[in-house]
Amino acid sequence: QPIKLLGLCGSLRKASNSLAVIRTLAESLPGHIHMPLFPLHDIPPYNADLDGDLCPDEVRKLKQAIGDCQGLVLCSPEYNYGISGVLKNALDWASRPSMNSPLKGKPALIMTSSPSFAGGVRAQVQIRETLTACLSRPLNRAQVVVNHANDKVKDGKLTDQPSIDFMLAAIDDLVAEIRLVEGA
Ligand code: FNR
Repeated sequence: QPIKLLGLCGSLRKASNSLAVIRTLAESLPGHIHMPLFPLHDIPPYNADLDGDLCPDEVRKLKQAIGDCQGLVLCSPEYNYGISGVLKNALDWASRPSMNSPLKGKPALIMTSSPSFAGGVRAQVQIRETLTACLSRPLNRAQVVVNHANDKVKDGKLTDQPSIDFMLAAIDDLVAEIRLVEGA
């Protein structure tokens, strides 16, 4: 049975390490697990006046994609010890209506990357809190961090095999959580 994941990247820059990490993961997945990425470049800043009937098309597509997937994979840098504004903004849009949003009950794997030693791990606390507020189900497991990312990413690819293996083990946990949620 194919598994449908959705990848979101918290950095918009072309040469993003976080993008390289999540793209490499997508390419390393076993054949039955699909993880398209939804780029967040065209998601406007959250505006409650536009939430509802006036919802921008791109936001509608994002919410549809989140609703259609079985699990989310987020990969983000840490900005000033916290969640990237790009990711927070996307999650804020996706979080409405608050008790019945496409994020509700959705298993989610959090990953961070950073050129630093800490690998962006401090942002994970805030990402987890946001997902919890959205009634999503962030995975409880050892955090996936890619530290020293500038050394591990080359030509848009993550080249560090231990990091790739660690991410694939996290995907196994995500799939187990999906099966639990879906009662399979
Ligand atoms: C950073 N960076 C950073 N790194 C980190 O480990 N902890 C931090 O708190 C911050 N804070 C921070 C704030 C701002 C505004 C910027 C622009 C950068 C460095 C950051 O990890 C680095 O630029 C990454 O390469 C960005 O991620 P992508 O774009 O490579 O995915």
